[in-house]
Amino acid sequence: MRVITVGLGDRSYDVVIEDGILDRAAAHLGRFATGRPFTVITDETVAQAQWPRLKAALDKAGIGAEAIVLPAGESTKSWSHLEHLLDQLLLREVERGDHIIALGGGVIGDLVGFAASILKRGCHFIQIPTTLLSQVDSSVGGKTAINARAGKNMVGSFHQPALVLIDPTVLDTLDPREVRAGYAEVVKYGLIGDPEFFLWCETLGHRLLEGDSDARAYAIGASVAAKAAIVGEDERETSGRRALLNLGHTFGHALEAETGFSSLLLHGEGVAAGMALAFRYSAVRGLCSVEDAARVTAHLRNVGLPYDLASAGITASGATLVAHMLHDKKRTGGTLPFLLARGIGQTYLDKTVELAEVEHFLDADQAG
Ligand code: GLY
Repeated sequence: MRVITVGLGDRSYDVVIEDGILDRAAAHLGRFATGRPFTVITDETVAQAQWPRLKAALDKAGIGAEAIVLPAGESTKSWSHLEHLLDQLLLREVERGDHIIALGGGVIGDLVGFAASILKRGCHFIQIPTTLLSQVDSSVGGKTAINARAGKNMVGSFHQPALVLIDPTVLDTLDPREVRAGYAEVVKYGLIGDPEFFLWCETLGHRLLEGDSDARAYAIGASVAAKAAIVGEDERETSGRRALLNLGHTFGHALEAETGFSSLLLHGEGVAAGMALAFRYSAVRGLCSVEDAARVTAHLRNVGLPYDLASAGITASGATLVAHMLHDKKRTGGTLPFLLARGIGQTYLDKTVELAEVEHFLDADQAG
């Protein structure tokens, strides 16, 4: 078992990582029990695959749990499902001191976190993430959101969970493409600030993708520890430190927008291609070495992730992709900050990027 604390004063919380923890969840959730069953919010897919394990564990301990089951997929992060969820929680008379449980991937975690932040002006919530992407990124750090007409994650709040329980064995039933997409966020932590961890990814990352439990536990622990440190320093993304977690996201956002945020390109796949583009753009600008950019590209290609526009299935021009970037929510005062790199493990926030130059780079990168 590995326990990582997200240090935020009186809102600090633990992230507990252990194979099979879902079946022993009562030991960790018991202190939040109120005498009434826990309300667990999940989706139709996870309700089949993992909810029976959690329910059995809580029933056996005499704590009990009831599920609210929502449709699977990105469209659940919507006003209508938020309203439905809030009504369900109010019907169940969830109180401000209660802890509701998000059992699922990023969609469920983001939606439940947001609902918890506004229900009766705020109740508590616990994250039990069931995808690699949510285990290494979205379940930790308290970003909650739904999508709006204007774009993804446009309405949300910062609301920290009270506990995160990560069971790597849930990945055994996950679509391998989803695991690979989540792996892009693992690689991200090496590229942001830990060259040795990137080297581990290059040499042993494939074991995680093959389901090796030691590799999984190591990579999830390293990723969560890196994220916890960043969130502890810059919870609300004000100092620029937390913004580093957006490496690959501005390029990736444009690719996702071009594919209509559909299953044609999963979020992690967009981030993978986006990180490779960010490194190659950094190399073109003379910020990092061509060799470092080539290593990033090669590793993503070797594990079967997109690493350029073609491998991401994109044929759009640089101008079209830059137009998508203008709708990025990170845009402030007309400028769009980019995460660029001075080398592997040396990502920084650059506010001087000219979009015309990015457009030219994208066209040139596509032409090879
Ligand atoms: N996923 C980026 C962040 O949590 O800040």
